[in-house]
Amino acid sequence: MSEATGERAAQGIDERVDALMARARAAIDFPQPIALDVPIRVGVDLGTAYTVITVTDAEGVPLAAATTFADVVRDGVVWDFAGASAVVLGLREDLEQATGRRLACAAVTLPPGVDVSDARAHRYVLESAGIECVAVIDEPTAANAVLRLREGAVVDIGGGTTGTAVVRGGVVVATDDEPGGGTHLSLVLAGGLGMSFEEAELLKRDAAFQKRYLPLAVPVFERQAGIVARAVAGYEVTQIVLVGGTCAFAGIDRVVARVTGVPCVVAPEPALVTPLGVAAFAPTITEDGALP
Ligand SMILES: Nc1ncnc2c1ncn2[C@@H]1O[C@H](COP(=O)(O)OP(=O)(O)OP(=O)(O)O)[C@@H](O)[C@H]1O
Ligand SMILES: [Mg+2]
Repeated sequence: MSEATGERAAQGIDERVDALMARARAAIDFPQPIALDVPIRVGVDLGTAYTVITVTDAEGVPLAAATTFADVVRDGVVWDFAGASAVVLGLREDLEQATGRRLACAAVTLPPGVDVSDARAHRYVLESAGIECVAVIDEPTAANAVLRLREGAVVDIGGGTTGTAVVRGGVVVATDDEPGGGTHLSLVLAGGLGMSFEEAELLKRDAAFQKRYLPLAVPVFERQAGIVARAVAGYEVTQIVLVGGTCAFAGIDRVVARVTGVPCVVAPEPALVTPLGVAAFAPTITEDGALP
């Protein structure tokens, strides 16, 4: 095992996580028909930037997924109910078409600490899109169903918020969520480089762009890392695993490690970890859930 591989494994990212996340990417790029005798689980991640529906087998291996950009949730609050419902319905129909299976029930994500009344809105979004909502799970807890971190913190930096879950003995013992994510970064890049928000959103995914403009992004990452540092203060956290689309920006792990003083690693396919993990909290759907 190389030193780098050993370090990642020590921080909870092993071959199992690598393989699962490669399957999660393939599930989005090439969603496959699923035989009627395969029990499935369904998760819905209603994010600030992206909404994702993931279908896994009973063991949590991703089989098919669909995603779209939609501005329907802000800081964990559904502000455009009709829009959110239409987005989930559209993704459900696309996935049902691709898989040949009826996605009758699912678990849905919510940022930690969001008010119960907002959790109700998340339930209604699913139900108005024809999916029975069987569980509402906070984002970093969902992510840890994939990572299976025993000790440390899982940090989900998405489009709108930075969520932290402190894990002890494999159990989430504390959570926190504050505004601050990739949307903020795009605004800073757009302002700094004199371009539109949409241009910055696209350009920031490019590896060469990330390398060149990391100095512009560092203050944003330092602010997010400050949120994480406050969330883990008082707990003996010895490792941090980063998930969420914003963590695909190369270099963010070094900033979070410097500010928090805790070793930090980015999960593979960070944007897909929480959407995959939430499916683990849904019951299996058997062949009764086949399309009529
Ligand atoms: N390759 C990439 N490099 C940098 N940033 C990226 C990349 N891919 C996605 N992002 C950014 O990640 C953010 C979306 O991440 P994610 O899908 O985890 O958020 P979300 O779940 O919709 O939001 P939240 O969890 O805050 O409600 C966006 O700001 C997007 O621009
Ligand atoms: Mg998210």
